[in-house]
Amino acid sequence: VAHTLWNRKDLLGLEGLSRPEVEAILDLAAAFKKSAPDPKLKGRFLAFLFSEPSTRTRSAFETAALRLGAGVLGFSATTSSLAKGETLLDTVKNLEALGVSYIVARQETSGALDAVAPKTRASVLNAGDGRREHPTQALLDLFTLREKKGRLEGLKVVIVGDALHSRVARSNLYGLRTMGARVVFCGPSSLVPDAFARLGAKIERDLDAALPGADAVYCLRLQLERQKDNFFASLADYRAAYGLTARRLALAPEAVVMHGGPLNRGVEIDDAPADGPQSAILPMVENGVYVRMAAFSLIEDWRRRHDLA
Ligand code: CP
Repeated sequence: VAHTLWNRKDLLGLEGLSRPEVEAILDLAAAFKKSAPDPKLKGRFLAFLFSEPSTRTRSAFETAALRLGAGVLGFSATTSSLAKGETLLDTVKNLEALGVSYIVARQETSGALDAVAPKTRASVLNAGDGRREHPTQALLDLFTLREKKGRLEGLKVVIVGDALHSRVARSNLYGLRTMGARVVFCGPSSLVPDAFARLGAKIERDLDAALPGADAVYCLRLQLERQKDNFFASLADYRAAYGLTARRLALAPEAVVMHGGPLNRGVEIDDAPADGPQSAILPMVENGVYVRMAAFSLIEDWRRRHDLA
């Protein structure tokens, strides 16, 4: 039934996805977690177009594609003709000409994929674009939280840290709000601008005040590579104000501890909460395979319905 709820060639973001669309992915992912699906992508080819590093996202997409029977091209954006100045669109059109049906892309530029996706027959799945969206990360976050808590409606989710630079924060805000959760963004005004309130987040500057009653605390990675403008005084000051420590986690004894990785241990999160019994960090990684399988499967159904197989 789920495939009839899905009417998209691409997965570019969670902004604008309806609750039934999100539920279609989460429910199909749950089914795939229970039992292995048919090799639905047998005969299809996938290429990765990553201009930024990745461990989890790329590996989980690749595992998902292989489990569904797809062939994965050994194509690397960094050693491709993109490095000689070929445009993203020309690169995509050439991959399409080679018979690639799925392009999984991580690009530094926010919105770059939205411009390219309508111009190709290939399906484009966003694996992170600049600060804008990282939809499959948020989907695996939603999946894991729903699995741990049994629901998403009404949950209080505290998202801590560098929301300004975070595509994970934006995608989670869209997805969680769509699913009826309450989202609290917590951080200094330099990293959590008041403007996030317009997107439906409650803003809290004091982490100790934000944590009581939380069903989840999601630590955002402090994006050290994007911190050239002194968003905070020092890493020690940041940890003192916004690091998730054992003492702080005791304020939220029912909270699932989440982090999309990679972790800056001892900065936004200490070892005890990262590795303790409340942590869902590694289950999130496993679940990332199932949600990506679900995304591929729903898009493949769409492609068959539209004679793009
Ligand atoms: N969560 C995440 O996007 O991790 P990677 O950068 O390792 O893919």
